[in-house]
Amino acid sequence: MGTVSFLSEAKAVPGKGTVLVTGGAGFIGANFVLDWLALGLGTIVNLDKLTYAGNLDNLAAASGDPRHIFVEGDINDAGLVAKLFAEHRPCAIVNFAAESHVDRSIHGPGDFITTNIVGTYRLLESARAYAQTLAPSEHDAFRFLHVSTDEAFGSLDGDAPPFTETSRYLPNSPYSASKAAADHLVRAWHHTYGLPVIVTNCSNNYGPYQFPEKLIPLMIHHALAGKPLPLYGDGRQRRDWLYVSDHCAAIRVILERGRVGETYNIGGRNEQANVDVVHALCDILDAERPCAAGRSYRQQIAFVGDRPGHDRRYAMDASKLEAELGWQPAETFESGLRKTVRWYLDNAKWVERVASGSYRDWMQQNYSNR
Ligand code: NAD
Ligand code: TYD
Repeated sequence: MGTVSFLSEAKAVPGKGTVLVTGGAGFIGANFVLDWLALGLGTIVNLDKLTYAGNLDNLAAASGDPRHIFVEGDINDAGLVAKLFAEHRPCAIVNFAAESHVDRSIHGPGDFITTNIVGTYRLLESARAYAQTLAPSEHDAFRFLHVSTDEAFGSLDGDAPPFTETSRYLPNSPYSASKAAADHLVRAWHHTYGLPVIVTNCSNNYGPYQFPEKLIPLMIHHALAGKPLPLYGDGRQRRDWLYVSDHCAAIRVILERGRVGETYNIGGRNEQANVDVVHALCDILDAERPCAAGRSYRQQIAFVGDRPGHDRRYAMDASKLEAELGWQPAETFESGLRKTVRWYLDNAKWVERVASGSYRDWMQQNYSNR
């Protein structure tokens, strides 16, 4: 298939190579947008509904940049999405938009069905209609890259090898079930309609701009606020942690050179038990921001009731991505965790605005490009 490289095209022809990103005001999406702009890869149209997880503070560095066009809206709004496709004629769409927090999915699964499943379906239909307007060479070069999760594969037994691209889908939470359903839709739109899709399944991310409801930012925030550090159950559940910019780099390389119709696992080969992650965070904080009287932050750890249906272990085998596309993570867990703690220490105002909810008022008043 004669594919045109988006990234090369974007560099060679200014104004070309526009990419439509959904959910680009959230944690991973915002990192992706900022890295893309910093690398000079072209224009991004950023469609985000600005749910509680969408925060335009995350995109402050792109404010006023003509290569970043922010549009507040829902991926379920087919009319709006069609208008964006027609106006901007992107060469790819990267779908980050989702409800992403397992605990919220347990308390209220409805939004997960609406956005993660129905929203992906609507986006696929909008992309299919747009793809039909493209010349054959543009159609072949177009990509619908769907960002998914290792959680679709379910929970690994203690000694089982990491998930590969052919592992069975066995999702256990409303969140992972909704992501699994979306992955199946994306696959079907390729096989049935020939839409040039790729699915990426990544392990747990951490890094700047992560909403402090997820393990790592929550623990940093609670530690500094003198609050208990709540570890669910025995704290021995394992996750495979990847620094967010390594995930973004993997998506870029897959966009450029990944094979259509394929899925790619992304992971850091870095499995850690939750209690060890929290110990490591406490140790970094003890060194960077010591408590009074030599007390360790570890003393704030509190074991609490377990999450219902809590998956015991996730781990990803990323060897397909490494072998085919030469991707490797740049950060170790140690370097990534240290950078992350420093970022949260240096950006106390960002955390404070999220914690108080004022980031939502600020968006209304200060962001002009909407
Ligand atoms: P996030 O919750 O921080 O951000 C999600 C973004 O999507 C928010 O900006 C939100 O406003 C937006 N959004 C939600 N519903 C929308 C809708 N209907 N229309 C338009 N925008 C909408 O999530 P994240 O952690 O950045 O995750 C991004 C994607 O990556 C998700 O698809 C998630 O499943 C996947 N993923 C996340 C991780 C992780 O560790 N965080 C790991 C693997 C995969
Ligand atoms: P989380 O960051 O919610 O990601 P996911 O559930 O998608 O893996 O949680 C990571 C792990 O940390 C998971 O095993 C649940 C656990 N956890 C706690 O023990 N305490 C907490 O307060 C949170 C938010 C998570």
